[in-house]
Amino acid sequence: MSVILAIESSCDETSASVCVDGVILSNVIANQTIHEAYGGVVPELASRVHQQNIVPAVHQALSIAKVNKNDVDAVAFTRGPGLLGSLLVGVSFAKAFALAKNIPLIDINHMQAHVLAHFIGDHKPEFPFLCLTVSGGHTQIVLVKDYFDMEVIGQTLDDAAGEAMDKTSKILGLPYPGGPLIDKYARLGNPDKYQFPEPQIPGFDFSFSGIKTAILYFIRDNVAANPDFVQQNLNDICASVEKRIATILLNKLSKAAKEYGIKDIALAGGVSANTGLRESLRALCEKNNWRSFIPKLEYCTDNAAMIAIAGYHKYLKGEFVSQDVAPLARMPL
Ligand code: KG4
Ligand code: ZN
Repeated sequence: MSVILAIESSCDETSASVCVDGVILSNVIANQTIHEAYGGVVPELASRVHQQNIVPAVHQALSIAKVNKNDVDAVAFTRGPGLLGSLLVGVSFAKAFALAKNIPLIDINHMQAHVLAHFIGDHKPEFPFLCLTVSGGHTQIVLVKDYFDMEVIGQTLDDAAGEAMDKTSKILGLPYPGGPLIDKYARLGNPDKYQFPEPQIPGFDFSFSGIKTAILYFIRDNVAANPDFVQQNLNDICASVEKRIATILLNKLSKAAKEYGIKDIALAGGVSANTGLRESLRALCEKNNWRSFIPKLEYCTDNAAMIAIAGYHKYLKGEFVSQDVAPLARMPL
């Protein structure tokens, strides 16, 4: 039997999870609302709140799973990529726990964990599969050959898809984080009302800075003519922006699937919570006879369950790290 305690603290969510024999028994996520007032994550504040949240989150995760801390066999933690101060809190906690209990430490790459969230539950993709990982900091098409053998075949040259969502919402005067709000208003709007450009980037790479500028100018010009333009058309603007971002993402993903001849297609990362993107991927896969893998909402945005499942697969391989391990703000796949 294997009992893994997992910690995630790469950005502004403090999360702890317990996984027993590959089954997730708890996934506690403490959101940090303090950043809303600043319109984005303030790294210094994030570290301080992680420091306050981490012990209660771990206690709660153990208690929900009905696991005694003395029965934990290994501690998995996010090593990177992420905000260094945030990562340090999780890494230090994991080290201290492992040292006190004399159990192994397992380091996990946050972006690999987003992909490996698909191995929670019974509906699992088969290797090799393609995963579109879309978050606040990353936009990647990943060729997943094995649990820890992944190749980025396309990525953003500038902004991430989540960043485009968040910046659009800022332009529209909505509070942070904007992605979920764009999703909410888009459900009530007409996605074909406004047309935003689709960048022509070769290969499987993306660019989102052009669409951000196009939206900025579009809003500026329309508000100059009608100061109530945004309030009157919020749903249609959100629906049109969401549709364009989803089209940009899925056109490249579809091209990659055809070129690599792959029929198992997955979505991961915070933006995979987006209703329009989820529906469009489902439709694309049905049309092409591909199998789609779309994570449950709680495994889309940052969570420790994905760290736990990744940790379980490293535990089975006996891949541990020593106490001198350090977090990495940048960490390639
Ligand atoms: O993976 P994640 O939780 O954190 C990072 O590792 O970055 O992703 C956060 C991103 C944010 O940009 C947020 O606005 C976006 O995911 N997001 C969404 C939705 N939920 C979260 N974007 C669109 N629709 C959503 N429902
Ligand atoms: Zn993430």
